[in-house]
Amino acid sequence: MTNENFIKLSRIYEQSEKMRISLQGKKLDKMKSQALENPEQFWAEQAKSLSWFKHWDKVLDSSHPPFYKWFVGGVLNASVNCLDRHIDSDFKNKVAIIWEGENKESRSFTYSQLYGSVNKLANALKNLGVTKGDRVTIYLPMVPELPIAMLACARIGAVHTVVFSGFSGQALSDRVNDSNSKVVITADGGFRRGKLIELKKVVDDAIPFSPSVEHVVVLKRASNNIKMSPKCVWWHDIIEDALPYCAPENVESTHPLYILYTSGTTGKPKGVVHSTGGYLTYLYATAKWVFDFTTKDIFFCTADIGWVTGHSYIVYAPLMHGATQIMYEGAPDYPRPDRYWDIVEKHGATILYTTPTALRMYLKFGDSIPNSFELSSLRLLGTVGEPINPEVWMWYFKTIGKENCPIVDTWWQTETGGVMISSCSGIEMVPMKPGSGTFSLPGIDAVVVDENGKPTAADKKGYLAIRKPWPGMLMTLWKDDEKYQDTYWRKFVNNVYFTGDYALCDTDGYLWLLGRSDDVLKIAGHRLGTAELESAFVSHPAIAEAAVTSRPDEKKGESIIAFLVLRTEFVSESGQQLRNELVSHIKETVGSIATPGEIYFVGKLPKTRSGKIMRRLLKSISSGSSTIGDVSTLEDARSIEEVRQVYDDLHRAVG
Ligand code: WTA
Repeated sequence: MTNENFIKLSRIYEQSEKMRISLQGKKLDKMKSQALENPEQFWAEQAKSLSWFKHWDKVLDSSHPPFYKWFVGGVLNASVNCLDRHIDSDFKNKVAIIWEGENKESRSFTYSQLYGSVNKLANALKNLGVTKGDRVTIYLPMVPELPIAMLACARIGAVHTVVFSGFSGQALSDRVNDSNSKVVITADGGFRRGKLIELKKVVDDAIPFSPSVEHVVVLKRASNNIKMSPKCVWWHDIIEDALPYCAPENVESTHPLYILYTSGTTGKPKGVVHSTGGYLTYLYATAKWVFDFTTKDIFFCTADIGWVTGHSYIVYAPLMHGATQIMYEGAPDYPRPDRYWDIVEKHGATILYTTPTALRMYLKFGDSIPNSFELSSLRLLGTVGEPINPEVWMWYFKTIGKENCPIVDTWWQTETGGVMISSCSGIEMVPMKPGSGTFSLPGIDAVVVDENGKPTAADKKGYLAIRKPWPGMLMTLWKDDEKYQDTYWRKFVNNVYFTGDYALCDTDGYLWLLGRSDDVLKIAGHRLGTAELESAFVSHPAIAEAAVTSRPDEKKGESIIAFLVLRTEFVSESGQQLRNELVSHIKETVGSIATPGEIYFVGKLPKTRSGKIMRRLLKSISSGSSTIGDVSTLEDARSIEEVRQVYDDLHRAVG
């Protein structure tokens, strides 16, 4: 952003009482220095906002880094913090969740109703033999029963693992097997863009390969025809006789609340494990700081609960705060490209938290659509999941927020549990720079470093790292402590957390997030690993080798580009028909979100002598760069001549 624009914006903000802009950021600075001086005292103060059955003995156990333990000795229950604490107050009849169906049908649940449903399902799961520590896979569409199922697991101390309902059978069974889930909770079907998604069928295909599964609980949602095998029970049947109250399980602060699988740089998704006490403390605090939640807020987070944003900011944070949450079932452009605005108007949303991908789509349709809706209930706008281009930011600010709503650009990850970098409307707003997340939150020691872990000079691109543990951090990767250490804590010395993102810090100290530095892609804000996609391609009989990269995409941020080497017997079939077949294959094995933007058949892939794919080279080709770039710095590279040959071959393929 140009200085001129920045100054203009600062003026707008200075004039706006409503935004409570402080150019000095004094309050924020004070909080940040308190947190850095005495982190344990600072986080203990935040943890006091939760309901604990037993107070912790130690705030932070760092005796075995990076296996940090927060609020050791403390005992609590997540569902009590989301529900019971409101049931005993005036909030009993307050709406907790407003659910909006794709077909415009609405359902709402008061805190008391939600509490009743969670208790019954918790007892029903107990009756099926689920006990503390057991894993339960939840594969449901965006219906209220999804948060109910999560909270029911939390109530009995079972560890939920939600699988995005857009994922295919293969992705589902990998996750069920890795977590050794005892129960799978699903639905007969769901809807997406008016089309039936046959979820139960996907589960049926996965279950024969998942020996740990004893029961499949099926919610009647779409009333499509399904087959009920002996392992299957209907949701409505098992809750019928379940008792209305289920005593909450006392769980230790370090008890895993959930596992959420996410893509990394290897073919296998990583099971990120979150704790109960640390995670909830972090969510409670970050929601207050970033969104300034009040009990009057009607919060519309447009994420799908299959991803971390939905876990943290649809389910746990808003409910702990006693806010009202809007949960939308479907696509932003269904039936027309106005759906979010329609929902904001219909339910009077005060905060909208969405993605740059959705905003880019809406922007394309111009101002007249949002201008035809009453959006004046909004007081704050948020964005998450990928960098936001300054032009899109300005559009969001002017057309949606009418220059009255600050924007919180929140950077964080599945692993961090909650927001790490953002402006903090609940502490004090500092002037915003479109495209920058501004500063790290109090207690978060974020720094941009070079390859050797040394802080970079202002305006110099480097890696974003976190120097101190924080309560929302992942505890480990499920059944893989070694990989946890390798992936996050060994890139730099001294147990510094490696985020995998590029960033820079400008001369004002503002942080700019510049995308992933590793082999993780962000397709429409969804996280996908190149290695996962490559193994999905290679599982097709025609493919010998695959290399996946991305190219910038106006709509989706990035789009998937695949370079494929065919098996000899298929070389003659390298036409459109095979391309279509491969697209269907990827949709079936991974899911529609992984639909490739472009497939190129090539004779050879560029590799280093040790067999590693030269990704930088692929990226520059797929992004349309006309020069080969600096390959001499590629470690262990083949001779420049060899690389050039493969490069020319690829270039011809791309055309
Ligand atoms: C990216 C999503 C720029 C980043 C909550 C990170 C962002 C990855 C932002 C994590 C943002 C998230 N600006 N990039 N505001 N928010 N990212 O695990 O690359 O699905 O590492 O968590 O998304 O994706 P994940």
